[in-house]
Amino acid sequence: MSGQATPGTVTVTMDGTNKSTKLQLIDGTIGPQVADIRKLYSDLGIFTYDPGYGGTAACDSKITYIDGDEGILLHRGYPIEQLATQSSFLEVAYLMLNGELPNAAQKADFDAGVMRHTMVHEQMRSFFQGFRRDAHPMAVMCGVVGAMSAFYHDSLDINNPEHRRISAFRLIAKVPTIAAMAYKYSVGQPFVYPRNDLGYAENFLYMMNAVPAEPYHVNPILARAMDRILILHADHEQNASTSTVRLAGSTGANPFACIAAGIASLWGPAHGGANEAVLKMLAEIGSVENVKHFLDQVKDKNSHSRLMGFGHRVYKNFDPRAKIMQQTCHEVLGELGIKNEPLLDLAVELERIALSDDYFIARKLYPNVDFYSGIILKAMGIPTSMFTVLFAVARTVGWVSQWMEMIEDPSQRIGRPRQVYTGSPQRDFVPASQRG
Ligand code: ACO
Repeated sequence: MSGQATPGTVTVTMDGTNKSTKLQLIDGTIGPQVADIRKLYSDLGIFTYDPGYGGTAACDSKITYIDGDEGILLHRGYPIEQLATQSSFLEVAYLMLNGELPNAAQKADFDAGVMRHTMVHEQMRSFFQGFRRDAHPMAVMCGVVGAMSAFYHDSLDINNPEHRRISAFRLIAKVPTIAAMAYKYSVGQPFVYPRNDLGYAENFLYMMNAVPAEPYHVNPILARAMDRILILHADHEQNASTSTVRLAGSTGANPFACIAAGIASLWGPAHGGANEAVLKMLAEIGSVENVKHFLDQVKDKNSHSRLMGFGHRVYKNFDPRAKIMQQTCHEVLGELGIKNEPLLDLAVELERIALSDDYFIARKLYPNVDFYSGIILKAMGIPTSMFTVLFAVARTVGWVSQWMEMIEDPSQRIGRPRQVYTGSPQRDFVPASQRG
């Protein structure tokens, strides 16, 4: 098969035959052109093969744009660097859901609308008792967020825009409450009710850290840092968990079930579980003297170990979020008066050596968002097992926005990839008595 581009189309000819077809090229606002391959099977009788979907656009989207070669990330056109330093998480949530930044009245309305939904159904409290205390909080998140569809069935009609709007508010508002409850359950402390007079990140830290026995004031530096961390994780185009949410949503499944599927997908160490894995890795390396030995191990194909927090399917340059995260890490540690954090020193050295190593240079492996986030979260007193949960809290905004966009897209169809079948050809059943 050979491909030949003409303006606006690509002609695909099957070598050795007289069969060919013209594929329409689609232009996005920015980014590479995309060939519409839908006619390939009907015209030539062939499918495309793309395990891991590295070269496949599965949908149209107006929410997030990534240029992996240049290290650019835009949400609704705004650079992540500007949003992270000048906006707030709920404002970014509004932007993602609505396409434009809110004016003051719209922002006040949206913030109040989200915060009004922070409490969970009282009966949900007993739902937690079914989990072992030592359950990973991500396991609890998958279960309890999925169970929201059993508690809020007054908003499950996905064809009703008002139901979709309420479900979106409920998810963005209640996921932090459920996350904090999962943590409190794991340490045997009473659940803390949300406080709607606090900001979104501030309230989350309050629910995580407060206890009924004494007053608790959220440190504003930590609240600001948490808000920024949430912005940095809010959305990232068609990554594994977002694609999971879209695929589940394409069947008409309710939004709570779809977000629970996204949480399950995020859990893996190749995706959202990487920030937890980075901290474990740094602890295992132990000190700067061991970095070289560790990197030798990572480069050895038989070891199956990876430099966690490095590499990305799309970024072949610095992940722009990693740069902001590194800067935030230094700021947070500085403001908390932490002068010597051995893990940070180790991470800086690890990054320095890796970035000058031919193995990482040749493969264009750079630090991703997770390389520094674990160190900040640890300094903020967040337990390691909650790192991925926090990612899920932030990403809920992206998942919900992408789910909404998909449902509102008239061309949306059920997601149904094909395969290259490599199993046995058709054969006849052999009764057990005649098998050798
Ligand atoms: N350490 C060592 N080698 C690596 C790493 C790494 N972190 N990442 C990729 N490589 C190597 C691979 O072994 C492969 O080498 P080869 O060509 O000699 O076989 C080459 O680089 C290409 O790697 P792929 O696995 O094909 O890259 P892919 O795009 O499939 O994987 C991924 C991307 C999963 C993120 C990978 O880089 C990785 O496992 N990183 C560590 C985990 C991590 O930090 N995940 C967080 C991602 S960001 C996020 O989800 C928020």
